[in-house]
Amino acid sequence: MQQNWTNLRLRITLTVLGGVICAAIAMASSGKDPDRGRDAFEKRCTGCHALDRIKIGPPLRGVYGRTAGKDARFTYSEAMKAASVTWDEPTLDRWLTDTESVIPDNDMSFRLNEPAERANIIAYLRQLSGK
Ligand code: HEC
Repeated sequence: MQQNWTNLRLRITLTVLGGVICAAIAMASSGKDPDRGRDAFEKRCTGCHALDRIKIGPPLRGVYGRTAGKDARFTYSEAMKAASVTWDEPTLDRWLTDTESVIPDNDMSFRLNEPAERANIIAYLRQLSGK
């Protein structure tokens, strides 16, 4: 009897541990790591974007959760001004994959083919918005 309990506890422990390890692996490979996102943002995006000032593109602090084309400091393309997309995980992921598929005729000519990198950058933008 004692043996059975020990076995059961061991099995539960291993199952939980397995779950935790799988989740950690999934997170590392699927992205959503804001710290890695900051590094990737600096590498990939800061040629055109800063967080708090205009460069070639609009400032991106607070963009997560906002409607596209709404930073009053920046002169957007007509397409962006007319867009009604709200920036969240799915819309930003599509945007960074292929901007034309979200807002045709926009002015951002850039795409990021690496899914984990996109997810990390989106997690970073989300953190900056406090969402
Ligand atoms: C080659 C320059 C360039 C690069 C590189 C670039 N962007 Fe952009 N981005 C732009 C421009 C220009 C716009 C405005 C487009 C318009 O008005 O049509 C824009 C717009 C955006 C918007 C919409 C902003 C809003 O206020 O609605 C987001 C979000 C965005 N970029 C994210 C990113 C991210 C994240 C990266 C890096 C992975 C990136 N961009 C890389 C030029 C760039």
